[in-house]
Amino acid sequence: MFRSASNFSDNVDAVFLYIAGLSLIVLIGITVTMVYFVIRYSRKRNPVPKNIEGNLTLEILWTAIPFLLFMSMFYFGWVGYKDMRAIPADAIDIRVTARMWQWSFEYPNGVKTDTLYVPVSKAVKVDLKSMDVSHAFYVPAFRIKKDVYANKNNNLWFRSDKVGRYDIACAEYCGLNHSKMYSAVQVMEQKDFDAWFAEVSKKAGVQPTLVLQLKK
Ligand code: CUA
Repeated sequence: MFRSASNFSDNVDAVFLYIAGLSLIVLIGITVTMVYFVIRYSRKRNPVPKNIEGNLTLEILWTAIPFLLFMSMFYFGWVGYKDMRAIPADAIDIRVTARMWQWSFEYPNGVKTDTLYVPVSKAVKVDLKSMDVSHAFYVPAFRIKKDVYANKNNNLWFRSDKVGRYDIACAEYCGLNHSKMYSAVQVMEQKDFDAWFAEVSKKAGVQPTLVLQLKK
């Protein structure tokens, strides 16, 4: 139904459909019951009210069933979130800096860009830092989003198995040009990425290495 562009998108979409579907079923169930009760127990049909003392079975059921439904939503969300926090050790480490109102990306060897270039089918970790106010790093096609702060480092990871160009948006209101704070992720074939990376590294006068260089 949806186009999957990262390792997380199928799971996020499944959880979304599960919660939306369940909510729709509950909405229809409650509405139908309510309309039925309004008609069945109207004053016209029941001129003399009857006192109802309560029903233990019903009370247990309407507590237990919603509890189990909510716990199932929590479980699916939690399982997906755990994957998002399990950052592979071999992920390429890219530093993302947000400022009013642009994104910039720094590769392990110091190369800086304003578009995020990544190789296809490789784990990429992004470290998020803001130079000023709070922003949020959001790639809708990848179903990933994380706040970007000035006083706290955040990170996330993804792997895209689909070559293409995807929007990066800012998802936290950060001032006048918040709505224009866009960049892009360019997912490239490995050989194209290597060629691009060798070229920009050469221009910057550094080795084309993706292993993090310890800063002196
Ligand atoms: Cu940066 Cu909104």
